[in-house]
Amino acid sequence: YSRHESDVQTANGASIKAEENDLCNWDGLGFSLTPTDYMYLMKCSKGESAFSQGHLTPYGNIELSPSSGVLNYGQGLLEGLKASRGDDNRIRLFRPEQNALRMQMGAKRMCMPSPTTEQFVGSIKQTALANKRWIPPPGKGSLYIRPLLLGTGPILGVAPSPEYTFLAYASPVGNYFKGPLNFAVEDNVYRAIPGGTGGIKSITNYSPNYKAISRAKAKGFTDVLFLDGATGKNIEEGTACNIFVVKGNTISTPPTKGTILPGITRKSIIEIASWLGYQIEERAIPLEELINADEAFCTGTAITVKPVGSVTYQGQRVEYKTAEGTVSEKLYRTLTGIQTGRIEDNMGWIVEI
Ligand code: COI
Repeated sequence: YSRHESDVQTANGASIKAEENDLCNWDGLGFSLTPTDYMYLMKCSKGESAFSQGHLTPYGNIELSPSSGVLNYGQGLLEGLKASRGDDNRIRLFRPEQNALRMQMGAKRMCMPSPTTEQFVGSIKQTALANKRWIPPPGKGSLYIRPLLLGTGPILGVAPSPEYTFLAYASPVGNYFKGPLNFAVEDNVYRAIPGGTGGIKSITNYSPNYKAISRAKAKGFTDVLFLDGATGKNIEEGTACNIFVVKGNTISTPPTKGTILPGITRKSIIEIASWLGYQIEERAIPLEELINADEAFCTGTAITVKPVGSVTYQGQRVEYKTAEGTVSEKLYRTLTGIQTGRIEDNMGWIVEI
């Protein structure tokens, strides 16, 4: 990234010195797309079972057959991970091999071939380095890398695509949500059902929730909290985050048994919380438990760790503490400390590039 001093013409023609930023307003980053320089592309051609010939290419549109599997039947997966610039100016990826493994697991469920862990991690390193100037300065955000695995071959009948494309692009981002999460509990739309795709990052898991999300946003909520599709009694997750409930020294989160997205931040927070001396439970959590909790928070790559400010169910609103000294704040500081190199990584979670 670069900043430089330059002359700026004001409306009345006076020339003033101002700090100008070549690329983007680092202080104003939210979670929206800023196109960057390069993306990574790799193909698995017809009749083959492995990906080959991966390469960087300028970021831009891709050509798709109108009859591609992804356009017609949603055969696709997404991933998300971040490259962060530390105070030491080094660039770190956080557990990229976990994203590779999750993509491989999802690919099996969606009848797709997937890149090897080596191919996946290599593509992420290349994408991050090729777009290095877009990695925000320390403390301003990170470079979000979005890998996709898409059925791009033509297919008319309902069947797996004959060809696949792996793609990774990047965008500098700040936080996904500003402030604490104010959840509307959704008791009409269900995100996942047993045997469905709730436990993988299928691209089809998101847009079916837009109706519920826009209804909640129109009422001033930040997001919706989904209940389990089988009983409608237990909490599952938000639109793009896992949820944790704190009571005393115990932190609970729903188990990843097919309807919950196995978040990499979720998994990391479980480990961090147990080092910090909390009791961790992965089990079904009835909505009443959330309502009676001391504190609640959500995790995700995009949102990192965010406190839940309130939960509203059938017109009843409960509020939680979100200020200094919360469990979620402690976990947030530890996680982001490791991600940015302020706290030593004893776990082998960091891949420096
Ligand atoms: C992430 O946290 O990286 C996600 O994938 C959520 C996304 C759908 C914005």
